[in-house]
Amino acid sequence: MDGNGRWAKAQRKLRIQGHREGAKNIRTLTTFASDLGIEILTLYAFSKENWSRPKAEVDLLMKLLKLYAIRERGLFMKNNVQMKVIGDLSQIPAFARKELDRTIELTSKNTGMILQLALNYGSRDEMVRATKKIAAEVAAGRLKPEEIDENRFADFLDTAHQPDPDLLIRTSGELRISNYLLWQCAYAEFYFTEKFWPEFTEKELMKAIEAYQKRERRFGGISSRKTMA
Ligand code: IPE
Ligand code: MG
Repeated sequence: MDGNGRWAKAQRKLRIQGHREGAKNIRTLTTFASDLGIEILTLYAFSKENWSRPKAEVDLLMKLLKLYAIRERGLFMKNNVQMKVIGDLSQIPAFARKELDRTIELTSKNTGMILQLALNYGSRDEMVRATKKIAAEVAAGRLKPEEIDENRFADFLDTAHQPDPDLLIRTSGELRISNYLLWQCAYAEFYFTEKFWPEFTEKELMKAIEAYQKRERRFGGISSRKTMA
């Protein structure tokens, strides 16, 4: 979800107003995605690198996070959405974590779409944390090194037991992945748009999905049409 700040600047507003507008857009798109039948929607809300922003902006983002967790509960229950988080939550301030935990707990029995927020998330960090967990299992004699394969490794990531993403969307015209789901996106289709996050509407999401539907995914194989020849 990139471009809140630039959207605000273009509107002669404060950056934080861009973040507020961005949070509103999460509500719109979560409802839409859940109506479309999307199973898992993961949103990159705060990266490990975002701490380097001015303290005032970081503080406001954490407050926004807390408010978001409180405000969206009702809607999650109404839409049968299950909220989850990935990332290293230990550094998220307790006042925000408390409300996040409450919403996660409250929605944990919902069976509809999983809305997953990546918070204090970095893909390399996630892989290092996974490796530490694996090493501890090996040291404790519960796992043999030769038992570690790709599936087993993935079980130690924050996204354990989830399917890999089919489509990765980045808004605001940046053409990079910025330490996001590096392992999981090995075969994801990428979609980049110039739209800033607050203006990435339902129509824009449909455009992304339609572009995705036209792609031919071969997963390293050859065209399915050609395999018959
Ligand atoms: C993305 O918007 C949202 C967060 C990282 C919280 P930015 O804040 O990165 O907006 P730009 O990139 O400055 O426009
Ligand atoms: Mg940005």
